[in-house]
Amino acid sequence: MSTEQHATRRREDYRVPEYLVEEIRLTFQLYAESTVVTADTVYAVNQQSTDCTGRLQLSGENMELVEVRLDGRRLEADEFEVSAMDLILVPGKDRFELQVVTRIDPVANTALEGLYCSNGNYCTQCEPEGFRRITYFPDRPDVLARFTTRIEGDRQTCPVLLSNGNLIESGELGNGRHYAVWQDPFPKPCYLFALVAGRLVAIDDTFTTRSGRDIALRIFVEARNRDLCDHAMRSLKKAMQWDEDVYGLEYDLDVFMIVAVDDFNMGAMENKGLNIFNSRCVLASPQSATDQDFLGIEGVVAHEYFHNWTGNRVTCRDWFQLSLKEGLTVFRDQEFSSDMNSRAVQRIDDVQLIRNFQFREDSGPMAHPVRPDAYVEINNFYTVTVYNKGAEVIRMMHTLLGAADFRKGMDLYFARHDGQAVTCDDFVAAMADASGVDLGQFKRWYSQAGTPVVKVSGQWLAEKRRYVLRLRQSCPATPGQDGKEPFHIPIAVGLLDSRGRDMLNGDRDGTRVLELREREQSFSFPDIGEKPVLSFLRGFSAPVKVELDQSREELAFLLAHDTDLFNRWYAASKLSEIVVMETVARLQANAQPVLDSDFVAAVRANLQRPASDKALLALALQLPAETYLAQQMDTVDPVNLHRGREFVRSQLSSLLADEFRRIYDDNNEEGEYRITPEAMGRRSLKNVALAYLMARVPTDEEIYALCCGQYAEAGNMTDAIAALSCVTRIEGRRRQEILHHFYTRWQADPLVLDKWFTLQAVSPLADTLAEVTRLLANPSFSMKNPNKVRALIGAFCSGNHYRFHDVSGAGYAFLTDRIIELNATNPQIAARMLSPLTVWKRYDPVRQDLIRRQLERILAVDNLSGDVYEIARKSLQ
Ligand code: ARG
Ligand code: ZN
Repeated sequence: MSTEQHATRRREDYRVPEYLVEEIRLTFQLYAESTVVTADTVYAVNQQSTDCTGRLQLSGENMELVEVRLDGRRLEADEFEVSAMDLILVPGKDRFELQVVTRIDPVANTALEGLYCSNGNYCTQCEPEGFRRITYFPDRPDVLARFTTRIEGDRQTCPVLLSNGNLIESGELGNGRHYAVWQDPFPKPCYLFALVAGRLVAIDDTFTTRSGRDIALRIFVEARNRDLCDHAMRSLKKAMQWDEDVYGLEYDLDVFMIVAVDDFNMGAMENKGLNIFNSRCVLASPQSATDQDFLGIEGVVAHEYFHNWTGNRVTCRDWFQLSLKEGLTVFRDQEFSSDMNSRAVQRIDDVQLIRNFQFREDSGPMAHPVRPDAYVEINNFYTVTVYNKGAEVIRMMHTLLGAADFRKGMDLYFARHDGQAVTCDDFVAAMADASGVDLGQFKRWYSQAGTPVVKVSGQWLAEKRRYVLRLRQSCPATPGQDGKEPFHIPIAVGLLDSRGRDMLNGDRDGTRVLELREREQSFSFPDIGEKPVLSFLRGFSAPVKVELDQSREELAFLLAHDTDLFNRWYAASKLSEIVVMETVARLQANAQPVLDSDFVAAVRANLQRPASDKALLALALQLPAETYLAQQMDTVDPVNLHRGREFVRSQLSSLLADEFRRIYDDNNEEGEYRITPEAMGRRSLKNVALAYLMARVPTDEEIYALCCGQYAEAGNMTDAIAALSCVTRIEGRRRQEILHHFYTRWQADPLVLDKWFTLQAVSPLADTLAEVTRLLANPSFSMKNPNKVRALIGAFCSGNHYRFHDVSGAGYAFLTDRIIELNATNPQIAARMLSPLTVWKRYDPVRQDLIRRQLERILAVDNLSGDVYEIARKSLQ
């Protein structure tokens, strides 16, 4: 496959559009396999543009062009050029109306971009470049237009017809058909356009804004899901309230709609006034959704709602600026969730995502800055770097400015840019201007890829009663970026005395924020009368790796005493990391592993301490994931890594059996199901205890019965899945029986079946790949449904490090077969599935060779999509 077919786009090539759009009127005549779209668009020359080619170039893909009219006159075939990707004509006037008629096939659209069908209902996904699969248009975010949308459809199969904005007209057409006209008063880029048509029911509510406007809230779902929307609706109202309280931001249309569909490439989409969601991010009941699902729904509903200001009212100039809206909106949803639930737990979850996935991306061939400089396929840049590292960058500005000035910066950003398409630079300028803080050096976080490493050494000078902290920063080279300039890094630190009390009187209760700007810099703390224990990078104040030699005693001390709850967890996780990696090293040296008795004592002490926050204790007890630990090895050794971690788990299980059992019993009381932080914390602690109890080798029969009992009697999905997950890790007849029971019970619920597929895919048992392969043929599985692909194939390849990396190479071949299959139907999902293969250079020569051959196989495929090409190609470079 040649490179010319997959052109690279560069940020530096940005030009303002030559033509702007004053308004667009769309008419959809919906038919399953042949929908006709008529777009009447008023164009005018952009006075800002200096390119005067006179050519109007409109993007368009995968459609049949029926006709083109310029100011009413039908153009002859020689008056325009049409290719597989665009339509070009020379209008010869500064202002004109163009009518474009296209025909599209929503049923055949398996890529799920543009207009497609999901369970017989029509829906759209236009971000980033899906609108060009609906009509020929300047499909770029800096062309904002007023949209009016007329939808005509069959009354029987499509009683509901929705688009952005307000319903201004509807009526009958005869022939069993009807129509609706929607008008969106806010100019928007076409990526925010949406259409939904189908047989749906609405769940209604209202929200009164602080200025007293009543907003109609409507969630549309298939009738079978009618009772599963309460949590999403409650979350929406909380999000609306929070955005008013924290940012003074009010909703701006009279109606806010959410639609849930089963087939969706991502989580959800913030189309103006008409958010479309993956049903996984909407539907929940205690019986069918876990606590994590409830939290996830609350976060995503809020995220999409928050986009109405950070994304829609102020949007991106071009897709290189994607983090302008995504990093900022992720930061906003994380803060919202922290305010609604446990702040410390939220922070730990967010940091685990960064450490487990973003750091890995940052150290591999796909490493890119938060604001990328180049891409082949923009869909490949909806990444943990743009989203989650982007959110960390916003968080660091919040730390450097403080909450009050950060809010001033947000206010200035909206005052300056409401209604505009802007850049990350514009955002930072608003923050700097509002606060007076110089963010010049800070902006390197947007342009330099890679995870900075901060080397720390601390020294207490007894005679001078002084503590000196010496910091050194560096950042490894990433593709296309060899040398890096130093970052401006906010480092929150505390010093603890021997009784665990904070010694610094910083502005944030014993925490001081240091600003590291140089490659090497020292910070001095006067009046430190005893040797302190350093609590470094509190709250994970920057997305960096820390190199700091702390003894196990110091870590155990921090675990017990740190006033920063995040760092308590960090100490626990660091301690277990050290112990697991030590075990792995012994296994690699063919030595008998032994579990460090001080570590066992620290865990025991942790279990015996009265747990003020059960969720935090549960998190502290969990060993780091294999995917995280793998990053700590020079050459990843999947087998010994798995064995070492399992050894530690089973040893803790037998040495601390009584403690785990007591914790289990103390927290097993399940009254009425509630999703408060306390109740969720209790359940997670109980289920971590159960997992440890079940990790004993060989399995304790009484515990096994206890676990099966929990599964059988569970009144909620959290407890049922926790028990089932323990059982699926142990071979035997009962495993099959319980899995079968679960399948039969939930056969009609695709979201619950996703869990069933995943549990089997992540099992460490030897025949997991064979089982996964068999499950591809299960009638409930479908390669056309992204949730199913992720639940089974994604879970095995990205969530089962040990079995996926089997040295036979069977896992690699399996994934490659699936990627080749998906490349033809859904390139976006195919490209996402590639990620476990991209980091092949971190493995031993045998595995390297096996993976490289599969990547080469992928690159040799005919009609390889740009999505898959880009990632496979970069991986081999
Ligand atoms: N803007 C959406 C969000 O809220 C993501 C949509 C991306 N879709 C895609 N096909 N890449 O994060
Ligand atoms: Zn988003």
